[in-house]
Amino acid sequence: MAQFMFPAIGMDLWALLTQARSPLAKDRHRDAIQKILAKNPREEGLFLALADLLLPGFEAQIKNAIESDNDTLIMAAKRARKLIQEAGASSGKHVAELQSDEVMKLVLKGQGNAEKGKNLYMQQGCIACHAVDQEAVQKGPYLGSAGSKFTRDYLIQSILDPNAVVAQAFQTELVTLNDGTAHMGFVTREEDGIVDLRDIAGAVKQLKESDIKKRDHQATSMMPPGLALGLTVEQFIDLIDYLGSLKEGGK
Ligand code: HEC
Repeated sequence: MAQFMFPAIGMDLWALLTQARSPLAKDRHRDAIQKILAKNPREEGLFLALADLLLPGFEAQIKNAIESDNDTLIMAAKRARKLIQEAGASSGKHVAELQSDEVMKLVLKGQGNAEKGKNLYMQQGCIACHAVDQEAVQKGPYLGSAGSKFTRDYLIQSILDPNAVVAQAFQTELVTLNDGTAHMGFVTREEDGIVDLRDIAGAVKQLKESDIKKRDHQATSMMPPGLALGLTVEQFIDLIDYLGSLKEGGK
C-alpha cells in the first residue's frame, strides 16, 4: 500500500489508522483517532489517511473540515468523503461485476466480520478441500493457520486466481500408467519405487514406479477458479477476515 508522508501527524498515527482496520482493535483505535481528530481538526494529512485507508465512521469530522475556510483542507476532506462513499457503494456489488484489481484494493482495505466469513467458508465449499482442523483429513492445503502464514493480499489472490501461484506441495500431477489409466493428484511421497498420489478427495493411491508410463506436471491448480465471483465484495471481505483470524494452533 502506498504510504503518504505525514510530517505533521507522524508514523504513530499512521500505525494507529492502519490498526483501526482490524476488527479486533476497532473500537479502541477509533476512539483514539477521534481524539486526535478532535485535537487537530484542521490537519489535512488525516483526511488523506482516511481516504487512503477508506476508513468509514468519520463523517462528522469530514463535514467539519468541508465547512472550514481552508482550501487544501476542504479538498482533502471532499476527496476522503468521495472515496469512502464509493468504497461503501462498491461493497454491495458482486465480485464478478468489478475488475480484479479493484476487488483486490477494496478487500485489502476492507473491514468485515470474521464470524460471517466462517459461515461463507462452509457454504462456499472451501471446507471440502481445506481443513482448518489438524485432525481432519487433509485434502488441499491446510488453512488452520492461514492468518499467521499468509499475507492478506496473498489470500485474496489465491482465491481470485488460483493458477497465479500454485502452492509448492500442491502442484498437480497427471500420472499415466502402462495400462493406460490416468490419475491426477498431488505427489505426497516418493520412496522405494512407490509414488503416493493423493487426490483432491484426500484418497491416496500407491503407484509403482515400474507401472508408470509418464508423469505430466500440470500448471493449473486443482482449486477451481471463480469461487469468489458470486460473493459480494462485502462477503469476500468477511471471508478473508475469517482466514486472517485463523492463527497457529487453529481455532
Ligand atoms: C476442489 C478443491 C478446492 C476448493 C473447493 C477450494 N480450494 Fe483453495 N486450494 C485448493 C488446492 C488444491 C490448492 C493448492 C494449489 C494452489 O495453490 O492453487 C488451494 C490453494 C488455496 C490457497 C493458497 C494456499 C497456499 O498454501 O498457498 C488459499 C488461501 C485457498 N486455496 C483458499 C480457498 C478458499 C477460501 C476456498 C473457498 C472459497 C477454496 N480455497 C476452495 C483446492 C480447493
